[in-house]
Amino acid sequence: MAPRRKLAAGNWKMNGALADFAQIDALLAAHPDPGCDVLICPPATLISPMAQRTAGTPVQVGAQDCHQEEKGAHTGDIAAPMLAEAGARHVIVGHSERRADHGETDDIVRAKAQAALAAGMRVIVCVGETLEQREGGSTIDVVGGQLQGSVPDGIDGEQLVVAYEPVWAIGTGKVPTNEEIEEVHGFLRQALQKRFGDDTGAGIRLLYGGSVKPSNAAEIFAVPDVDGALVGGASLKADDFGGIIAALQ
Ligand code: G3P
Repeated sequence: MAPRRKLAAGNWKMNGALADFAQIDALLAAHPDPGCDVLICPPATLISPMAQRTAGTPVQVGAQDCHQEEKGAHTGDIAAPMLAEAGARHVIVGHSERRADHGETDDIVRAKAQAALAAGMRVIVCVGETLEQREGGSTIDVVGGQLQGSVPDGIDGEQLVVAYEPVWAIGTGKVPTNEEIEEVHGFLRQALQKRFGDDTGAGIRLLYGGSVKPSNAAEIFAVPDVDGALVGGASLKADDFGGIIAALQ
């Protein structure tokens, strides 16, 4: 199996404007050859201009969500082929904020992942437990259920990225211990190998997400089966995201 290429993925969430492309210019000036895959998922309105601005650079552009249907009467939604046409190459699905704010179930997340794959994009499927679930000792059950329910059948290792984002670590400055991350990532790797076979399962990249910053990135990236990060707040500033990219090398 070829070694898994590290991935630094930024999720801008509902932040950013055209003026913030200056941060990407600064990032590229500081890291013209990042040595890992670099992905930024801006709000949908910025996908097309960002894809044009970053064409020919190491920065890839992705979306934060897609609708599960190809077209139709869904006011305000965006279909996967539309995102692909705008220049998105990846789609995040099943982020805990969408699961919580929009009632997205594992079935919906799986359908969205299928739609993104059918449109020729890669998917980043997010899983993660709440604080209550962690304190109740059900982290592995919760994450295992989300993984099983949200990841479609018949994927190849290149198309899928899984992001472990403990809900209680998102935007809080709290980060699990290395042992806690290792336990979940080790479990995810085993579950993926069991379901898709050793080779395919070994090729799927596993990201950690939740309060990753330049100051804690190297420690997190030293954990086995952590192939990079899905970064929220710290992906908005070139210095912070650049520091995380540097820690991946
Ligand atoms: O998808 C990334 C995310 O939820 C983590 O956010 O701000 O804690 O890095 P943040």
